[in-house]
Amino acid sequence: MIIAMDGPAGVGKSTVGGLVAKKLGYKFINTGEMYRALTWKALESGADLDDHEAVLALAKRASWEFKPIEEGGATLKTFLDGVPVTGQIREERVSVNSSRIAANPGVRKFLSKLQRELGEPGGIVMEGRDITTHVFPDADVKIYLDASPEERATRRHRQLKASGGDADRSAILAAILKRDLNDLKREINPLKQAPDALVIDSTHLTMREVADLILRRVRREAKHAR
Ligand code: DC
Repeated sequence: MIIAMDGPAGVGKSTVGGLVAKKLGYKFINTGEMYRALTWKALESGADLDDHEAVLALAKRASWEFKPIEEGGATLKTFLDGVPVTGQIREERVSVNSSRIAANPGVRKFLSKLQRELGEPGGIVMEGRDITTHVFPDADVKIYLDASPEERATRRHRQLKASGGDADRSAILAAILKRDLNDLKREINPLKQAPDALVIDSTHLTMREVADLILRRVRREAKHAR
C-alpha cells in the first residue's frame, strides 16, 4: 500500500508516520527533507534562491538517494551527492528559506517525480504538503493531519525545552503561523485537504492515538481490497 499524509508544519507527521511504518514493516519518508536538502545545497553554493532556473539546475546536477542511515531502518533519509544531510537541513537558515525553494515550479516537478519513483513499489508511508493531492492522489490511504497552531507551538516549545534549548513560545507560534501562510498561499501545489482524505485533528490526541486511528483505516482498506 501507499499511505500518503499531509498537514501543516509541526503537527507530528514524522512521529506518526514513523510509528505507522514501523508497525506495518513499511518504509517512511518525510518529503520536506528533500526541499530542505536542496535549500541547503543552494545556500552552500551561493545561488540566488529565487533564481528558479539556477536552483533547478543544482537539483538536476546532484545525485539523490533515499536510504536508511542504519542498516534495516524504516526511515529513509536524503543523501545528496553521497552525503546524508540530516543535521545540515535543520539549520535555521534552511528552515527560514525552504519555502522559497518549495515555490519553484520546476523544483516541485523534479522532486514530485523522485517521490513517485520512490513510492510506486508500495510499502511506504510518505508525508509532506502535497502528497495526497498531487504526488499520490490515488494513494490507498490518505490522511490529513491537523492541530491548532497554539497546540503545535506548545509541543515545539516543550520539545525544545526538553532538549535543553532556550525557547520563546510566542516566537515559535509566530514562526508556525508564517509557515502555515507560506504553505497555504503557495501558487503551485499548496497545502490543502484532499476531498477523500481522513482528517485527523490531533490537538487533543497523543501521537500513539493518531497512529492507531491511521492503522485502523489501513486495516479497513486492506479488507476492502481483498
Ligand atoms: O515539512 P518541512 O517544514 O520540513 O518542509 C520544508 C519545506 O518544504 C516547507 O517550506 C514546506 C515544503 N514542502 C513542500 O512544499 N511540499 C512537500 N511535499 C513537503 C514540504
